[in-house]
Amino acid sequence: MGKILTIRPPGDKSVTQRALVFGALADGKSVVKSPLISWDTGSMIEALRSLGVDVTLQDGRVTVVGNGRNGLHAPRHNIDCGNSGTTARLLIGVLCGHPFRSRLIGDESLSGRPMRRVTEPLALMGGRFVEEDGDGLPLVIYGGPLGGLAGFESPNSSAQVKTALILAGYVAGVPVSLREPVLSRDHTERMFRALGQRLEIAPGGDLRFQPTSDLHSFEVTVPGDMSSAAFMISAALMADNVELMIEGVGFNPTRTGFLRVIERMGASVEVLSEGEELGEPVADLLIKSSQLRGAMVAAEEVPSLIDEIPILAILAARAEGETTFEGLGELRFKESDRLGMLADNLVGIGVEARAEEDNLTVVGNSSRLSGLIDTHHDHRVAMAFSVLNRLPGVELTLSETASPLVSYPMFYQHLDSVSPKCPTAS
Ligand code: S3P
Repeated sequence: MGKILTIRPPGDKSVTQRALVFGALADGKSVVKSPLISWDTGSMIEALRSLGVDVTLQDGRVTVVGNGRNGLHAPRHNIDCGNSGTTARLLIGVLCGHPFRSRLIGDESLSGRPMRRVTEPLALMGGRFVEEDGDGLPLVIYGGPLGGLAGFESPNSSAQVKTALILAGYVAGVPVSLREPVLSRDHTERMFRALGQRLEIAPGGDLRFQPTSDLHSFEVTVPGDMSSAAFMISAALMADNVELMIEGVGFNPTRTGFLRVIERMGASVEVLSEGEELGEPVADLLIKSSQLRGAMVAAEEVPSLIDEIPILAILAARAEGETTFEGLGELRFKESDRLGMLADNLVGIGVEARAEEDNLTVVGNSSRLSGLIDTHHDHRVAMAFSVLNRLPGVELTLSETASPLVSYPMFYQHLDSVSPKCPTAS
């Protein structure tokens, strides 16, 4: 092997967002170390400040001084959730149990993303909402007392929905029980339990939450984001002779579906050490450039790699043979219609790809690829095609390159170290 590189991925976005909200609802001063500081978490921080929470950022750590279980203050202005679905959906859950009116807005992409998946079950608890433009934002929330929610069957495996309901139950002090088709990322469950809340998962998968004590303040070190690391892991796999150490990445099994799939594709992945932080597993990984082959990704696996589909599609485009992803319906409701966009962009640059109903098929090739990529301002689409663009024989022009700031501010610096652009041979 040639050069050995080390990268510490940015803090996990889902864990950072939860730590910020939980800190805002806890009593007193919580400290979030190694958080993700990006556009999305910035939206959450600004939203919490507008709700009267003291949030400060110093020396790479965030301090949140919470006002207790339902101690948020009525906002004086609209709450702008920017591009962040997690900010919007988690806050909808929190705010419908606070006795004031709030109005959530977002950018063009977020305004078109479905919110009824949270407002409908919250309405069963007594939540009151007024949609201004159909299923999306702007959304007005008339908060007030809530009742419990028993046996809710979520049609989607969505951690944002699950978390919004748990948070509403916590704020209102009422029990919530629910079930989802396949377990989605379980950061909320792990952190709530680590903070002493009574939250159980029955053997059949039913989640039962019974708020007991108030959340006490906490300190947490946020693990690295597997969804961000996936871009660097992929760049290393497709590079020539690279050995890459990924340090301190979250290794929660509800987030590691990407690793399981690339191993089936023939990737060399070694787990070097494992630890734990506030209920979250953390690991160091060693990745070596590998020859990849196509694989099948089943619908049940999708929740554990939902944000990694764009980069998996890129790996598939350079692997030997065909890769099929099943059950990708949820991908149509992300920052863009990722299913349609991935297929269109891949076809546009010379890769055989088909999006049929909820499935995506990509046929790998090693020929020259060139053309224009429309990212639709979707950070994960922009990052996935930027990784591809570093490979020899690939000449792409992206419609924009700023969107990685949504989740991975150091993206281009890290990519430069793993996969510097080679001059194309003419
Ligand atoms: C997230 C859950 C997922 C994921 C998103 C972050 C979270 O969305 O795609 O990037 O932090 O709970 P869904 O809950 O809509 O699947």
